[in-house]
Parts: sequence; C-alpha cells; structure tokens
Amino acid sequence: MNSLMSKLLSRVVAPVVLTCGMLGMANAQGQNPIVIKFAHVVADSTPKGQGAQMFKKLAEERLPGKVKVEVYPNSSLYGDGQEMDALLLGDVHLLAPSLAKFEHYQKKIQLFDLPFIFDDMAAVDRFQNSPAGQGLLTSMKDKGITGLAYWHNGLKQLSANKELRTPKDARGLKFRVQASAVLEEQFKALRANPRKMAFAEMYQGLQTGVVNGAENPYSNIYSQKIHEVQKNITESNHGTLDYMVITNAKFWDGLPADVRTELEAILAEVTVEVNAQANALNEDAKQSILDAGTTKIITLTPEERAQWRDAVRPVWKKFEGDIGADLIEAAVQSNNP
Ligand code: LMR
Repeated sequence: MNSLMSKLLSRVVAPVVLTCGMLGMANAQGQNPIVIKFAHVVADSTPKGQGAQMFKKLAEERLPGKVKVEVYPNSSLYGDGQEMDALLLGDVHLLAPSLAKFEHYQKKIQLFDLPFIFDDMAAVDRFQNSPAGQGLLTSMKDKGITGLAYWHNGLKQLSANKELRTPKDARGLKFRVQASAVLEEQFKALRANPRKMAFAEMYQGLQTGVVNGAENPYSNIYSQKIHEVQKNITESNHGTLDYMVITNAKFWDGLPADVRTELEAILAEVTVEVNAQANALNEDAKQSILDAGTTKIITLTPEERAQWRDAVRPVWKKFEGDIGADLIEAAVQSNNP
C-alpha cells in the first residue's frame, strides 16, 4: 500500500523540497510559519492517512516558510468524541471525520449512512460533486465549521467470528458502530445490538468480546488488524465510509488570502488523488487480509445481498424527516448516470 502511494506522491509532488535554508530565511525575516494541525483517527497507510500526508508535503513545498502542517494519525492528538470540540476551540485546524460523525452538526449528512443508498463509489462521487452534495459542505457555517472537500475511503464490509450470510445470522450479535443514530438503527433492523464505540477502541472491543462484529472498509480492517480478531468478513458493500475534510471557519477565513487560495488549490489536487486511489488501497488491503490467512471473505449471491438490503431498507423512512426526501431522492438518482 505504501509503495502505491509513494509512487503517487512522487508523481504529484514537485521535486522541490523545503530546505532548512528556506525556513531559516523566513525566520530571519521574523515570519513564523502558520502551524496547521491535522488530526485523524486512522493509520497513515489508509486513503485518509495518505491524503493528510500528501497535503502536508505539498503545502510545505509550495508555501515554504509560510505554513507548517503537523499530521497526527491514529487518534494520537484527538480521537472520536474530542476532535470536533478541539476544532471548534481552535486547538486543531483540519479534521476529516467520517460522514457518520456529523449528526450533531448537520442531520442531513446522515444521508451517507443510509444502508444500500449508493450502488457503488462512482455514485457516491457523483452525488458529492452535485449541487446537493456540495451544498452540504457549506451547511455548517453557522456552527463554525467549513467543509472543504469529500475524501473517499470506500464501501463497508461486515465482519464477525460467526459467518454472516443472511440477515438472521446477525441476530443477537453485538456490533461496534460509529456515533451514528442511522447505524444504530441499521443493526437494530437486523435484530442485532449496536454499541457505539470510538474507532481506537474497536480492536480491543472485538478481542475481548465486548462486541462481536463490526463494519469497516478493507483499508481500516487491515490497518487496525481487525482481521486478527474476526474469522469472517462478509463482502456486503452495504454502506459508505467517506469523509468530509473540515476546518474551523474562523481560522480558515482568517488566513492570509494568498495562503488560503494556495491551500485550497492543494486540497483540490489532493482530493482528486485520494479519491482516485482509495479503491486501489482497499483492494490492496483485501489482498493483504487474504494473504494473512486469518479470515475468510464471504461473497454474497445477489439473492443473499438482496435479503440484507430488504432487512435494513426500513431505516431510510425513519430518517427521512431529518434528511429530507428530496436529498434522499437526489442520492438515489446518482445511481443512474
Ligand atoms: C470509524 O470510526 O469507523 C471511522 O470513522 C474511522 C475512520 O476515520 O475511517
């Protein structure tokens, strides 16, 4: 995985490196670089981890001495449950929480958690780039949050020690969920027990049996070693795990205009690369899981997959009021290019 992204980095990154000399010069002129802290909860090897690194590299190369980007992966600065408050307090400047983690700020973003709403990542992409999708980026201004971009991870797969082939196999099992009411309802619809749990606690939760199963894209499964504590993965592709790159609106608006414009251009470039490579990183992670030999990957027949879809489809209706029927329709339409 790393080599794939290294290749990518060497392709997009200009061969100019930030030298100590440049930094020294800037300091001699009394210009302290603006420090931008970018915190996230996943590993460097994942699409989001790679995107954060790429952003750092390009920003420091193209704004030498003006900007210093500090990336904190793996919940090392702030984890789930703290990072949003830290952003609003100005203690961290960039985050990319999964779209499941916005319900207290913008309920319409719950759309992305509705099970089986997008047929594939191309549909997710089309929706995110549509006026409706782009509108969500700016919909939290009143809360002090500016959305800058959507980054892909990918589609989620179910995992457990038990084989999950049809919805009844999930009955009674405890599943770790992100802090999302939609995801809680999804598992309740399966007559399973959802347990909200921070991402950093998932491995231990599964290892100790506090929870029995989870839902993650392959890149998160592999990088968190979830496969070591789950004997089976069902390739359900039942939902999306994507991100919104967000900043503190006051911080961003307060940046010097030339710096902000350059950072936005860099972010746009990084977004294209992250979204183009996310699928390959997940496929690579899937292969690594197979190579590890710890876990069986179960492929569903179209009929089996339809059973899962039918079991969780009632969840859409429950959230239609919060999300809006029009937005749900726009998302569904993105399945038909
Ligand atoms: C999760 O909590 O499962 C994800 O949001 C983690 C991530 O950022 O990919």
